[in-house]
Amino acid sequence: MIVTTKKLFEHAYGKYAIGAYNINNLEQIVGLFRGNLDSQAPFIIQISKGARSYTNKTFLEGLIRAADEVYQEAVFAVHLDHGDEAACYDCIESGFYSSVMIDASSKPFDENIAITKRVVDAAHAKGIVVEAELGMLGGVEEHVSVSESEAKLTDPEQAREFVERSGCDSLAVAIGTSHGAFKFTGTQSLHFDVLAQIQERLPGFPLVMHGSSSVPQEEVARINAAGGNLAGARGVDATQFKRAAELGVTKINIDTDGRLVWTRVHREFFLEHPEKFDLRDPGKIFMAEYAKFIAAKNDYLGSSGQLPAVREFLKA
Ligand code: G3H
Ligand code: 13P
Ligand code: ZN
Repeated sequence: MIVTTKKLFEHAYGKYAIGAYNINNLEQIVGLFRGNLDSQAPFIIQISKGARSYTNKTFLEGLIRAADEVYQEAVFAVHLDHGDEAACYDCIESGFYSSVMIDASSKPFDENIAITKRVVDAAHAKGIVVEAELGMLGGVEEHVSVSESEAKLTDPEQAREFVERSGCDSLAVAIGTSHGAFKFTGTQSLHFDVLAQIQERLPGFPLVMHGSSSVPQEEVARINAAGGNLAGARGVDATQFKRAAELGVTKINIDTDGRLVWTRVHREFFLEHPEKFDLRDPGKIFMAEYAKFIAAKNDYLGSSGQLPAVREFLKA
């Protein structure tokens, strides 16, 4: 069942965070649904601009519709990740997405507000909710690359003003994380003090943490042992998710860790079986491993086991 992130956040606020997982293909979608059902968690499927143009966005929508039919117990939101204005309008018009992210965080404050407000007006007219971003995460995203020295933590007072003036439904805040597999390479760390100050000014308002992959060292070691080269990769300590949730973070974005599972499975498989070439063999292992990974991640987020309560909450 597709729901808005707003409903999921209402149930989660202050208690746990919902995993927002980026997907690009069939195997990820199947593993994602299985893992969330195994752990009985509500979840958010995120589709980036890059995912939409990897093949044709219609394929992804069709796959998610099919998964909704196959896994009828699942409760999830379909969300555009890091959209620009045009992508947001496209998703709003499509009638498929329940939530969009407008990322105008690279623009000056007033312009970010103006762009976000235009998207909010268009989205709300159709019952769709909007995530916006204030501050600058370090790291690489599809259309922006920000060095650590350019990264800018969210200013708590500006966050309050931004939400009030833009009317956004949730806010991605920069508190020291960055996208990709190489986090905290310089002086970065998680700034819970800043998060607490934002929550103080925006009590009850859902916050979002991007760049939250943990880049498990065991995963990195296995990839490197199977011919990869990810020396120096590191991520966010997943044991900190619950603390973030208590401080108002209701959505935690994870993409890189899923890519690492894919890389490890395929590297190890072809190293161990140089004679094989049936793509379904590693595909089956990947779906099972991805499901395991999702369920384990949901335990850290605190979303595991929440599905029955969320279903009741949605009925009320
Ligand atoms: O924040 C970016 C996400 O990890 C999506 O990555 O733009 O390469 O699909 P992508
Ligand atoms: P990671 O690169 O840490 O997985 O972050 C993903 C993300 O923030 C997607 O918007
Ligand atoms: Zn992101």
